[in-house]
Amino acid sequence: MTLDQLATKARDIHIKQNNRLTEQYTQKLPQTGLWLETQRHLRNSDIDDALYELCDQVQLLDKLEATRRGAISNPTEGRQVLHTALRDFDSNALHHDEVSATLAAMNAYTNRVINGEVLSATGKAFTDVVNIGIGGSHLGPEMIYAALKPVYERKLNAHFVSNVDATDLLAVIEDLNPETTLFVVASKTFTTSETLTNAHSAMNWLRSNLGDSAVLNTHFAAVSAAPEKAIEFGVASDQVFPLWDWVGGRYSLWSSIGLAVAIAYGFDVFKSLLEGAFAADDHCLTAAYADNAGVQLALLSYWYTQYLGAQTHCVLPYDHALRLLPDHLQQLQMESNGKSVALDGSQLDKHSTPVVWGAAGTNGQHSFHQLLHQGTELIPTDIVLVLTAAQSLGEHHKLLVANGLAQSQAFVEGKLEADIIKELIAGGMSENDAKALAPHKVIAGNRPHTIIAMDAMNAVNLGALVALYENKVELEAILMGINAYDQWGVELGKVLAKEMVPQLESGESTSDGYDALIEAYANLND
Ligand code: F6P
Repeated sequence: MTLDQLATKARDIHIKQNNRLTEQYTQKLPQTGLWLETQRHLRNSDIDDALYELCDQVQLLDKLEATRRGAISNPTEGRQVLHTALRDFDSNALHHDEVSATLAAMNAYTNRVINGEVLSATGKAFTDVVNIGIGGSHLGPEMIYAALKPVYERKLNAHFVSNVDATDLLAVIEDLNPETTLFVVASKTFTTSETLTNAHSAMNWLRSNLGDSAVLNTHFAAVSAAPEKAIEFGVASDQVFPLWDWVGGRYSLWSSIGLAVAIAYGFDVFKSLLEGAFAADDHCLTAAYADNAGVQLALLSYWYTQYLGAQTHCVLPYDHALRLLPDHLQQLQMESNGKSVALDGSQLDKHSTPVVWGAAGTNGQHSFHQLLHQGTELIPTDIVLVLTAAQSLGEHHKLLVANGLAQSQAFVEGKLEADIIKELIAGGMSENDAKALAPHKVIAGNRPHTIIAMDAMNAVNLGALVALYENKVELEAILMGINAYDQWGVELGKVLAKEMVPQLESGESTSDGYDALIEAYANLND
């Protein structure tokens, strides 16, 4: 049977009666403390077979391997895609020399900052590092910093500024001492308007507090594939760390874009992150389909999106420190696979990747889980658990994990109308009233979801988790037949924003239909 034919019956599959609730679908990624459970899905062995046949047809793992070996897998930009080389310490790995030289430079600089050997303009050791960047130069590092905060000792406090809205920068610097604040300007292109605007304002803040001194450049480090632009901005050349065109922005947290994380926790923690990511890469490239966590996640996303009409994918980290994971995954998946043309430029005959969203548990339970349990949409969900507490306090962690697992159970089991009526009558309600109320209380259950669990939050497991999602996204792109590594869709907005600025200044609109607001803006800001 084809996947289309199988899809017509898939909604009849009942997770609980499907004989899949067994440990066969629980696996632990080698070299990590990362668990994956994929038994709670609308699948059966016929669907598995058809999906694995599709993997063969599209040469799924061969194509992934070609990417890893340096193929031009981003043809619209003529680029290799080798973020995985950043976490491969084998001396035969591609780009090994550049990568290891950069890691050594990061290590040395990080140590000098932490040990107070790089001094501020007034001769003080730095206490705070502010990462200025946006998109891939922001979301990954901020998410990693937050996730590891309860686990590792902080050498410096890190802060993150991304939005061109001044409120973002002002809120961060209002609590900081200019004498002890280091800025890392993270921008692959070093042309991103938001980042440069924030970097200039940060420089002005230092100038207005510390005077206009040449030694202010000690307060700036930069990460860029255009180092000359960073130097021109005013960063000392020995504080500019390279990035390469073979590392895509949303896949770049493993590069020197992770500098603020390395400075905050020490280089060894950053290196452990890379080690965990490498373990996930190795697994996703070599494990057989049925045992391959990356393949499983990609196939599930593909199955629900292309065949069962799912339009969104929910990520629920039951770990407050991982609350930024959905934001990071949003860019990773939606900027990578939010496309409507195939690799050859033809119109895609498939759906775009699902909208990724979510929030930390248990908070979401008291807001949007209502829809997850009783809404009409099919929303495949990932529940992410951490099995040991980074910070223990009374019963908190036990309750947190219990809630995560209970949500899974509720997704599977739901609550039957007959049982509800029985309960209501036992509670003293009349049969008529019970029958009238019961439909509102029915929870259909059978909601597909994956559980991903870590033994503990640490850099290795976190690296593995994030890299697993990267592999998922890349594999899903191969299934869809698209380029996961360009992002032309974001360019138009950048161009139009540039053209809008002089219109706001003059109050004269040259864009159709914006006259009233542009004039109002100019008048109000006169
Ligand atoms: O506008 C999208 C984007 O290009 C992302 O892909 C990227 O991560 C982000 O902007 C930041 O770009 P840069 O690191 O060049 O400043």
